[in-house]
Amino acid sequence: MTLPNFAFFKGRIVPYGEAKIGVLTHTFNYGTGVFGGLRGYWNADEEQLFIFRPYDHYRRFIESAKLLLMELPYSEADLVQSTIQLLKTEDYRTDCYVRPISYFSDEIIGVKLHGLHPDVTIVSIPFGSYVPNEEESHVTISSWKRVDDNMIPARGKIAGAYVNSALVKTDALRSGFDEAIVLNQEGHISEGSAENIFLIRKGIACTPPVTENILEGITRRTVIMLLRDEMGIEVVERSIDRTEVYLAEEAFFCGTGVQIAAITGVDHRRIGTGKIGPITDKLRQLYFDIVRGKNPKYRELCVPVY
Ligand SMILES: Cc1ncc(COP(=O)(O)O)c(C=O)c1O
Repeated sequence: MTLPNFAFFKGRIVPYGEAKIGVLTHTFNYGTGVFGGLRGYWNADEEQLFIFRPYDHYRRFIESAKLLLMELPYSEADLVQSTIQLLKTEDYRTDCYVRPISYFSDEIIGVKLHGLHPDVTIVSIPFGSYVPNEEESHVTISSWKRVDDNMIPARGKIAGAYVNSALVKTDALRSGFDEAIVLNQEGHISEGSAENIFLIRKGIACTPPVTENILEGITRRTVIMLLRDEMGIEVVERSIDRTEVYLAEEAFFCGTGVQIAAITGVDHRRIGTGKIGPITDKLRQLYFDIVRGKNPKYRELCVPVY
């Protein structure tokens, strides 16, 4: 992976090598950080880099921090401006990924959340696909369960909770699958290791509600809007049983990293025809135009860097 050249660190942009933390840093020891993941899309025709929905991403970032009693000294607008500044300094003319992290910078021993001092850092790297084939993926149902709201709040992007995602992902890949679907404590479908999920059943799009221990995804929100407003497809947020995936006409993951990726097989069962379905295909075309700032109707979701 190419390392960044710069980082936003302690309130200013510094060379990446200067953005260092001590080994006793609270978040490094206890996972008490929160993070975000945004994408920048290069539009070659306009020679412009667009950040997709940065205000929504930073709203969730601040909300995730709130769950850990972190009072950030930055507003959404401040963080968007710092991100623009960082990307300008990097001078990216390619698709990229932005990773903001809020962490307790205190170098102390002691498991707690109060009386600590948060700091924010932001870095960015050039970035392409997150999964090898977004049009065809064969996934498994993980034997790991999704973290629960009363264990580590799943609706926030909390660093420590990603041990759960890492266990899910590595076991899936080592078993020869591309990804995994994770069930919650009740045995309902929650999401993927780091992406939300949708099924098409009898022409209706279904996705687990925010009370099923999902991360409240920004892409999920975009997808709901596009299915309803652009494709005229009914969207229902409801609990989904494991075996409903086996019977779905189509299924797909969505998230900033994965974008929109068709699930074409689950545990050696073919989903639908075993190829990307028409709804997922159409949705992908709509989505990629929008994130690159090519659809005037949704242009305000894309914030230009240059
Ligand atoms: C656990 C989890 N679920 C879902 C998502 C998708 O969220 P978003 O669409 O906001 O990127 C992510 C990605 O960050 C994630 O880590």
